[in-house]
Amino acid sequence: MQPAGDAARVTAALWWGMFGVSVLVTAAFTALWLYALRTRRETPDMAQQRRTQRRLMIGGGVLLPVTAIVVLLGFGIPAGHGMLPWPDDGTAPLRIEITGHQWWWQVHYPDAGVTTANRLHLPVARPVDLHVRSADVIHAFWVPRLGGKIDAIPGRSNVLRLRATETGVMRAQCAEFCGLGHAHMAMDVEVMAAPAFEQWLSQQQQPVARDSAHTEGRAAFRAHCAACHGVRGVAPQGSGPDLTTVALRKEGLLGWLQGHDAGFSAPGVPAHRALVPARQPAIVAWLESLP
Ligand code: CUA
Repeated sequence: MQPAGDAARVTAALWWGMFGVSVLVTAAFTALWLYALRTRRETPDMAQQRRTQRRLMIGGGVLLPVTAIVVLLGFGIPAGHGMLPWPDDGTAPLRIEITGHQWWWQVHYPDAGVTTANRLHLPVARPVDLHVRSADVIHAFWVPRLGGKIDAIPGRSNVLRLRATETGVMRAQCAEFCGLGHAHMAMDVEVMAAPAFEQWLSQQQQPVARDSAHTEGRAAFRAHCAACHGVRGVAPQGSGPDLTTVALRKEGLLGWLQGHDAGFSAPGVPAHRALVPARQPAIVAWLESLP
C-alpha cells in the first residue's frame, strides 16, 4: 500500500489498525483455547459453572463485539465522510465526469469542455469531485492509491471526492465484474502539478495540427473510424473512445488493432479486423503522429 491521497491514507491507517486488532484477537483466542485444553481434575459446582457461563456470554457475546464495532465506526465514519462531496472550504473542487462503458472509461472535464478516454489527468493537492456513471452495465471506479471506490450505475450519478497528495502515474481499475473485458477495464491516472495540469487542459482544447504527411491516414480515419471514434478537431465524439491521444496509451497500435478482435469484442462493437486492413497502417501512422 502506497497511499498517494488523503482518502487512501486514512483507509490505509484504518486497515493497519484493524490488522493490529485482529492479531490481538487471534492471540487472545489462541490463549483461551490452550487454556481450555488443559485437563482439569476438580469438577466445579453448578453455581460456579453458571457464573462462568454468564461472564463468557456477556463479555464475549456483548461487550467485545460492541467495543469492536464502536471503535471501528469511530475511525471508519470520518474516513467515509472525507470522501463525500460536502460544501467546500474555499478551494473549489474540480468537477470531472467519468462514464464507464463496456470496456473503457470516458473522462469529461465540463468546465473546459474537454473529453478524453482511458486516461485520467488530475491536479495535485486540489479536491476533485468525480461524478461517476455508466452507459451500459454496472462498473466500479477505483484508484487504489487515491482511495475510495464507487459504483458506476446506469441512470444515476455517484459522486466521489478525492484529493491526490503526490504527483505520478497510478492505475485505476474497474472493480465490479462487468463482462468478458472486465479485467482489462483499467486506466492510467496521471497526477500533475497545477501549472502542468492547466497547460495540459488548455492543450486539449486545441484541435490537432494538420500534417500534410498524413493526409491519407486522416482521410481513411474519417471514412472508416469516425462514425464511432472522435479525434479533436477532426471528428466529433461518438459512441467509442476518443482516439486523439490513443498512441500515448497503446504501444504497437497496429499490432494491437489487428489482434484486437481475437481477445474479446464488446457488445455492439463491429469487428475491427474487417475495417479495411489495407488502410490500417496509414490510419495508425496518422494517429501516432498526433500526440
Ligand atoms: Cu467495468 Cu468491470
